[in-house]
Amino acid sequence: MVSTRALRSVIGGSGAALLAATAALVAVTVPSAHAADPPLRDLAAAKGVYLGTALMASELSGTSASIAGTQFDSVTPGNEMKWDTVEPSRGTYNWAPGDSIVTFAQAHDMQVRGHNLVWHSQLPNWLTSGSFSNDELHSILVKHVTDEVTHYKGKVVHWDVVNEPFNEDGTFRQDLWYNQLGVSYIADAFKAARAADPAAKLYLNDYNVEGTGAKSDGMYNLVKSLKQQGVPIDGVGFQAHLILGQVPSTFKANLQRFADLGVDVAITELDVRMQTPSDASKLQQQANDYAAVVNDCLGVTRCAGITVWGFTDATSWVPSTFPGQGAATLYDENYQPKPAYAAVRTALGGGTATTPPTSPPTSPPTTPPGGGGGCAVSYGVNQWNTGFTANVTVKNNGSTPVNGWSLKWTFASGQTVTQAWNATVSQSATAVTATNLSYNGTIPAGGSTSFGFNADWSGGNPAPTGFTLNGTACTVS
Ligand code: XIL
Repeated sequence: MVSTRALRSVIGGSGAALLAATAALVAVTVPSAHAADPPLRDLAAAKGVYLGTALMASELSGTSASIAGTQFDSVTPGNEMKWDTVEPSRGTYNWAPGDSIVTFAQAHDMQVRGHNLVWHSQLPNWLTSGSFSNDELHSILVKHVTDEVTHYKGKVVHWDVVNEPFNEDGTFRQDLWYNQLGVSYIADAFKAARAADPAAKLYLNDYNVEGTGAKSDGMYNLVKSLKQQGVPIDGVGFQAHLILGQVPSTFKANLQRFADLGVDVAITELDVRMQTPSDASKLQQQANDYAAVVNDCLGVTRCAGITVWGFTDATSWVPSTFPGQGAATLYDENYQPKPAYAAVRTALGGGTATTPPTSPPTSPPTTPPGGGGGCAVSYGVNQWNTGFTANVTVKNNGSTPVNGWSLKWTFASGQTVTQAWNATVSQSATAVTATNLSYNGTIPAGGSTSFGFNADWSGGNPAPTGFTLNGTACTVS
């Protein structure tokens, strides 16, 4: 069976969105040390995870838009889908700010993480001071969830349905919802969201739950009970607003125990704050912390992705929320990448790009996908006016493992591979051969592997045809 992560990694971009993204992508400045490297989002995709950032409507142009639209493949609106913005007066909706984030995401082939539907904070006054009866409050909650999820149906991939429902000791937060409706408000919110968009992945989200402990135990018990009751919950979000040098050592094991309940997990709001000003040793510690979190997610098959809560110190929420602290993100206030950026790149498998040899390997491996199942190739591209990045996933549908692989295909004319990762790629005219590296030569029966490459194109860039895996023709999607 293909894991959720493997399936996710084969989802390609939409053609219209790619064309729309062209203008923005060509204007991008990539950090010079990595000018030839694929963007972080492609490295993440090759690992089977998404890489997201929070963005605010004020950041959808200029440098912030260029970096966000290039390096990340998921976006979470920083504030634009919260209750006080979306429903500023009862029954009257203000969709424009959230819609602007969705439009940006679609133009840059990014998915959207909706944030959030039910929370104790950023609620409009009419709601907090309305003195509603319990029944009325319940209807207000269900209607809001239904209307917002319906508005964004098909456009939001993941929803933070309920945000921050716990106290630090693992008991339920005494907020408007819990005080009047009891714990059932959580299940009711998930049910309303599922009814409004059955395809959206529905998450419970909180902070200070990254390591094991009382609060994390409270969340674990809730998720277990929701699953037992058949409440439609798909995932648990770990915000990960972390303090320098304090990535919990139990983070990965904790993610795994939630995954073992039958839900996906995700890092949803990662930042690592420090006392300012920063210095070289703090920035190095921060780099180590970011890398540790990425590795913890990659170490758990059901970890769907990682979102940073803003990618630049220029707009991070930290300094205004935690006085004296800041410098919490991957890029500094001048939008220059910090050591943490390089550490995330390395943790995602970057920096190991291989230079294509000039001629195909002389003795390609020959184990075909056994048992008659053949192979399936998924080919996704991210393109700009003269170049593109391709992510290729090849699945062994046979009943025996493939040991050593060579995937061949034919390009239309005008496509030239310039660099590859997770494979050695060689090209002779339009014929291309990708062979495994030392660490990914085995594709288990029913399993898959992914690699990617950068290439130039001219005259059109159709998907290649005639993929063969060790000589056996593959289906293509
Ligand atoms: C923050 C935003 O980044 C700020 O702009 C806003 O003023 C307050 O909220 N946990 C969450 C996010 O779930 O919604 C919060 O976002 C940060 C903490």
